[in-house]
Amino acid sequence: MIAIGCDHGGFELKQELITMLKDKQIEFIDFGCHSKESVDYPVYAKRVCESILSNESDKGILICGTGIGISIAANKIKGIRAALCSDCYTAGVTREHNDTNVLCLGGRVVGVEVAKKIVETFLSTEFSNEERHIKRIQQIEQ
Ligand code: RB5
Repeated sequence: MIAIGCDHGGFELKQELITMLKDKQIEFIDFGCHSKESVDYPVYAKRVCESILSNESDKGILICGTGIGISIAANKIKGIRAALCSDCYTAGVTREHNDTNVLCLGGRVVGVEVAKKIVETFLSTEFSNEERHIKRIQQIEQ
């Protein structure tokens, strides 16, 4: 299950990604927002992250205008490791090395087709499970 959420700056990209998730028959929960009306991104970061922490969702996708605010908000929540990505390389390596559970995107930064590839990469790449990466993640948690 994928939890997806955004603010007004990410609304249009969220709708595009939802179409992609439906086409790929990937189950998701849409935590809003539901229009381009101005809202506060920490609210949507919290909703998506809580869905992951309660095991309702496996991973999350968060989108704001730059991806920065919503990634800062998500990374304040214990147990969340959120990566702001604008390319497929970082989307893959952050899964392999950081075991990130939230992908953040800038709706005003990345194009729709690039964003779709980033999401595909993030969702299909497994954590490497290598000792050095596990140790570093534990250090972050501590
Ligand atoms: C909203 O205008 C904008 O500040 C927000 O979407 C995001 O870019 C914040 O980091």
